Amino acid sequence: MLSYQFYNLVHILGIILIMMALGGIALTAGGAAERNPTWTRRSVAVLQGMGIFLILLGGFGMLARLGIMHGSGWPGWLWVKVGVWATLAAIAFLPYRFPATARPLLLVVPALGGLAAYMAIYKPL
Ligand code: HEM
Repeated sequence: MLSYQFYNLVHILGIILIMMALGGIALTAGGAAERNPTWTRRSVAVLQGMGIFLILLGGFGMLARLGIMHGSGWPGWLWVKVGVWATLAAIAFLPYRFPATARPLLLVVPALGGLAAYMAIYKPL
């Protein structure tokens, strides 16, 4: 029998995928991005920045409530999540600098999100 954790992970992965797809649709349908590239670039930068900040705020808030903050060595699963967070923050600039990376990001970003969710749900390290 598949565990609750497994369905939790599948559920979160589905949410990540649909949010990515709808974000892409919002920017490409009807040529929105071509018609107003400045608005597009500014909007995704604001969304990216807010997302990165809220993950940090929520993540450390949960850590404090789990009592993991104070002095105790961070568990491996948390280091992996912080690594994913830093990667998600940094890769936003890649497609602008190296356009060939834009498409692969469609797979890399959900994979990173799934990895972070897997670490939070299963805590394997
Ligand atoms: C600074 C980076 C991060 C920190 C400090 C952090 C911390 C945490 C903590 C403490 C929990 C709760 C674990 C528990 O209830 O036992 C959690 C849950 C979760 N985190 Fe993060 N996280 C970070 C980054 C991320 C990123 C980048 C993602 C995905 C893109 C993510 C996805 C999740 C998910 C989906 C859960 C909920 C899992 C569940 O349903 O129990 N986290 N995180």
